[in-house]
Amino acid sequence: MTEFLRLGVNVDHVATVRNARGIAHPDPVRAAHIAARAGADGITAHLREDRRHIRDDDIACLSDELDIPLNFEMAATEEMVDVAVKYRPHAACIVPEKREELTTEGGLDVIGASDRLGVMVPRLLDAGCRVSLFIDPDARQLDAAVSVGAPVVELHTGTYCDLEGVEREAELQRLRDGAIYARQIGLECHAGHGLNFETVSAIAAIPEIVELNIGHFLVGEAIFLGLEGAIHRMRDLMNEARAST
Ligand code: PXP
Repeated sequence: MTEFLRLGVNVDHVATVRNARGIAHPDPVRAAHIAARAGADGITAHLREDRRHIRDDDIACLSDELDIPLNFEMAATEEMVDVAVKYRPHAACIVPEKREELTTEGGLDVIGASDRLGVMVPRLLDAGCRVSLFIDPDARQLDAAVSVGAPVVELHTGTYCDLEGVEREAELQRLRDGAIYARQIGLECHAGHGLNFETVSAIAAIPEIVELNIGHFLVGEAIFLGLEGAIHRMRDLMNEARAST
């Protein structure tokens, strides 16, 4: 039987809008509560080094108030490991982070960073976090994720979402193959980045994937459908795709 597909709602861009005015509204923690009521299985928040959207006090409030799991997205830095160890979120997803990028570009180079990750991953696991590594669907990176002790990977769907036609189809096949290989070598497999109502179904139909993390599109679509409406529609599309597998 196909496993249930969880939806993690990323609230970063509620904070982006808030920070544009430098006031307290709209509050990402309030959005997280609404998302939970609308059926989100978890909340994701990325505390970036430059604090451009989520801030430390948001992580404190989310950790304190949420009844559903918090997935803390973080760069592979000592500062972020310290934050994770302090708040002990359900999950810690390590992502590459460059100051000048608009959003996370490409997956983590686990092979290149294996010495650092080999130290950080056990620290996060000791703090009780389920550690995941955000990577491209590449067998060598998946092998490296196992080597550094990560139990979970999140496959980067951004390239698939950006491409069209046969190129998109080829990237989708890479994601399918990556998800199968991840499971074969004992990794739990998640996916995310850039997903919207058009692109989600093909990813949700990959049976090895058990969690999707979606943010920017849902927050944008909330302007038109409301946050609950946008999440309900996304959930319906995920369920329909899953039922077809
Ligand atoms: N997963 C990871 C690891 C991410 O870094 C992001 C972006 O913060 C997402 C999922 C969500 O991407 P999007 O906001 O494009 O839906």
